[in-house]
Amino acid sequence: MIEVRDLTKAYSTTLAVDHISFTVRKGEVLGFLGPNGAGKTTTLRIITGYLLPDEGTVTVDGYDVLSQPLQVKQRIGYLPEDNPLYLEMKVREYLDFVAEARGLTGARKRDAIDRVLHLTNLEDKYRKTIETLSKGYRQRVGLAQALIHDPPILLLDEPTSGLDPTQIVEIRNLIRELGREKTVMLSTHILPEVQATTSRVIIINRGRIAASGTLDELLQKASEGEVIHLELRNPPQEVEPVLQSQPWIESFHRIAEEDGAYRWTLRGPEGKDIREDLYRLAVEQGWTLRELWRERATLEEVFLNLTTEEATA
Ligand SMILES: Nc1ncnc2c1ncn2[C@@H]1O[C@H](COP(=O)(O)OP(=O)(O)O)[C@@H](O)[C@H]1O
Ligand SMILES: [Mg+2]
Repeated sequence: MIEVRDLTKAYSTTLAVDHISFTVRKGEVLGFLGPNGAGKTTTLRIITGYLLPDEGTVTVDGYDVLSQPLQVKQRIGYLPEDNPLYLEMKVREYLDFVAEARGLTGARKRDAIDRVLHLTNLEDKYRKTIETLSKGYRQRVGLAQALIHDPPILLLDEPTSGLDPTQIVEIRNLIRELGREKTVMLSTHILPEVQATTSRVIIINRGRIAASGTLDELLQKASEGEVIHLELRNPPQEVEPVLQSQPWIESFHRIAEEDGAYRWTLRGPEGKDIREDLYRLAVEQGWTLRELWRERATLEEVFLNLTTEEATA
């Protein structure tokens, strides 16, 4: 439904989005999770056509954001991070204005407004001036606005930020309901948000994709910590008994055999970097070392960020 390829955007010297690629599949509710400043808003603004990329492509339902922006805007409903509303307007008046801007008139316009008032449970608030509504209700007006042209895709930028706990639950329920009908991409900087609403998660950090998968998969991956990759020419029956007998190797797994070489992942004691010990062992044993590198647990760091910020969110 949405295809993002090699997307890059810098603001003067700040590289906000750094060659990211991902897909949003039809019908899914995708969580776009990352700490503040990760590049979420920038990415969403490019997908919706409000901001031009420096490099890369975005297609929505096969339409290119740069060359076919109208087709893209017809298919996307967007709730921006700051939910800009005309506070002095009444809810119905505002939706009327938004509908006309979308080219709706007459009975089609009235039907569209009634439909979104119903969808967002605003039926008893349509006469109110937006200014007098609570933040939670204003967020519903923002959602109603995003839904007015009945788009198949919804992009929501931190839709519950600044709401109180009751309002958060209500908006999350509403998003889950909308997710049954629509493809939804939702950005957030708090972990419980994706737990509550989404089926798949993409984690963005410093403008790059750090990981993607279900939340369970990611939590599992984040808890694993750092791992050393080792590739040797020598066969397992020669190598593995030696690895087994080293007290400083906590565990190892053979993960691949390729072109007559074998690859393992290994873990040392917590906090100890075993790369140099491994190098010396390989020399001592006369093994043909092809590769030795450490995979850092950046995911763990990202998760720490996302969970501690919950307290201040
Ligand atoms: N209009 C702007 N001018 C300059 N820098 C910006 C602007 N908007 C965002 N940035 C910077 O780009 C990076 C990504 O920001 P943003 O996309 O808003 O991240 P997020 O939505 O994940 O918090 C941050 O370092 C931010 O300070
Ligand atoms: Mg943002």
